[in-house]
Order: sequence, then structure tokens, then C-alpha cells
Amino acid sequence: MDFELTPEIEAKIKLLAIKYESMGQDLVAYLDGLLYANYLTYWDYIHLDTLLSLQTPKTDFPDETIFITYHQITELYFKLIMHELDQVSWLKDSNGKLFLEKVRRVNRYFRHLVNSFEIMVEGMDYKEFLQFRMSLLPASGFQSAQYRQIEILCTNFHSLVEPSQRSLFDEHSRIEEMFGYAYWKRGSIETESGLKTLTLKQFERKYSESLLKLTKRCRTRNLWFIFSNRLQESSLKDKIIEELRTLDALVNVDWRLSHFQAAVRYLNKDTEAIAATGGTNWQKYLPPRFQKQVFYPSLWSKEELENWGKSWVVQHVGSRTRVNKPSPSDTFRSKGKPNPKN
Ligand code: HEM
Repeated sequence: MDFELTPEIEAKIKLLAIKYESMGQDLVAYLDGLLYANYLTYWDYIHLDTLLSLQTPKTDFPDETIFITYHQITELYFKLIMHELDQVSWLKDSNGKLFLEKVRRVNRYFRHLVNSFEIMVEGMDYKEFLQFRMSLLPASGFQSAQYRQIEILCTNFHSLVEPSQRSLFDEHSRIEEMFGYAYWKRGSIETESGLKTLTLKQFERKYSESLLKLTKRCRTRNLWFIFSNRLQESSLKDKIIEELRTLDALVNVDWRLSHFQAAVRYLNKDTEAIAATGGTNWQKYLPPRFQKQVFYPSLWSKEELENWGKSWVVQHVGSRTRVNKPSPSDTFRSKGKPNPKN
């Protein structure tokens, strides 16, 4: 084989020599390593065997594989979302360009999660679900820590305080005091006894400390704080507001509605099925209309806030029939209000 040591190759070798020398390393030894190293394969690069070994159902019902895999896919998207939000929290971005780009990415991931949720709603056998779900007690997606981390990075914790307690605090209140009133604590209460479910107790045992730490760290690093304190003069302000409204609607209306639709489909049938969730008050807790979780209340009109998540829920709660996929943010469309996604 003819080999020519071109100026381009020489220049690259020089650069490598400089790189290794600066660390006291021997370039020739590294070239040896390159000579003997195997070529990278796709399956090694993405750790395919490990990835495909993680779907380990607890029962023999075939559709449990869909359930476990879709949860894992969602957690991977949550990871991508966290990856972007975490970068925003450290940005030294005074003009808002990078901030806008990152929020757009987050919205893209959430839009995908909303659109794919029909895999849960339509894609599993109802009877199988009710049976294999019993083998998974008391685990619940409620225990997704990444979901809470995303919320904490998106807004001031004051917006995550249970609405009925919110007026006791303001944006400057101590995190430790507000933390005990996180809205999600209401979502895992036994309907009959009013006590915390085991699902919630286990979640708190594992994650309370780290979530509290994150909340403190994010007090001045969450999206809302950064936008309202550092980007008010940005020429991109209107575009940023549009993306933040989209994010709010995607997380707090669209995803919640898609998810609620799954709960209605599988759990709203009879008392035995409802017991499969550990006896929680999910019918009262999950609908965005009741939850009224809003990251950025000041970006919405009074009427938009009053109608938060309303129309689809009014139409379908309590219905025993299969329901169609809700139109994203139909709350706003139905009222002829501006839809943040248009
Ligand atoms: C058939 C599919 C699903 C059903 C029937 C369902 C049902 C429920 C129910 C009943 C709750 C209330 C707490 C409880 O009683 O456990 C809940 C909460 C939750 N689930 Fe699911 N779920 C499904 C799929 C998923 C998926 C794929 C995820 C993705 C990670 C997920 C994430 C969550 C989260 C984050 C909460 C807490 C929501 C909040 O606090 O507002 N769920 N789910």
C-alpha cells in the first residue's frame, strides 16, 4: 500500500504531540494503542445489550413489556429534558438566545411524549393491564423523581406549593417551609383513611432529601427566575414568553391530560380496578382542571387560568367509554383564546 505523509497528516500529528506532551504523555505509546484498538461498533457505543436487558417484566402477561418499556422510554426523555434544563441553569446568557434554544428543545421532547402517550392509552389489553398491575404494587409513575426534578427546574417552588396553601407563602419564603406543602403530596393519599400511601412514603424516604437540596440550589437557577431576573431586556423576550407558555401547557395540561386519559381507560371501571392503584384519590388529583398546576401564572390571562385543562375533563371524567385523544391544550382553543402552540 502506498502511503504518503501529507502535510495535513503531519499537521495533525504535531497537534497530537502537543496535546500529549502538555500532559506529560508519550504520543508514540498512544499511537500504539490506536494501532491495536478494535473498531467501535454501534452495539458497543450505545450499550445495546445492556439496554435491551433492562425490560424485565414481573409477570408473563405479554403487554407488561409495553408498560415497562414505555416507562423507560419516558424516563430517557425526562433525562434529555433534565440535560437541557440543567445547562440553562448554568448559562451566562445575557441575550436569551441560548435560553430560547434550550426551552425549544425541552418543548420538542415534551411534545413527543404527549403524542406518544396513546401507546399507553390504546396499546395495551385492558384485562391484562388490570392483572399485571396488581403485581407491581405499590410502585407508581408517581414515584418518578425526574418528573419532580423537571418541575423544580422549570419554576419557583412557590408555584409547586399546594394551591390551597399557596397564599401562606410568597416567592421569598424559606424553601424548607414550602417544601412540606408540595402539591404532589396530595396525589398519594388513601381515599378512605386520608393517610399517606406506601407509594408516597417510599418515595419520600428515597428522594425527599435530594429533592430539597435541588430545590434550594435552583432557587436562583430555575427557568422562571432566570427569565424574570436576567432576560427582561432581551430582544427575544416575546419569543421566550411564547415558548414558556408552550412549555407550561405541554407539561401542566397536555401531558397530564394524556396521562389522565390512560388512568380513565384502565382504572375508572369498577371498585376492584380502582383499588389497583393503592386506593389513591387519583380521580380528584390527576385532572389538570382540579390540580391547577401552572408554572408561569403571570403569562396567562385570568380566563385562561380559570379554564385550565377544563373542557376535555368536563367531557370525559366519569365516562366509562373509551375516549379519543384530547386535542392538546383544547382548553384554550375551545375558548377561542390564543393557543400558545400556534
Ligand atoms: C396505563 C398507564 C398509566 C396509568 C393507568 C397510570 C396511573 C396513574 C395514577 C392512578 C396515578 C396517581 C398516583 C397513583 O395512584 O399511583 C399516576 C401518577 C403519575 N404517573 Fe402514571 N399511569 C400510567 C402511566 C404512566 C407513565 C408511562 C408515566 C411516565 C413516567 C407515568 C408517570 C406518572 C407521574 C409522574 C405521576 C404523578 C403525576 C402528578 O403528580 O401529577 N404514568 N399514574
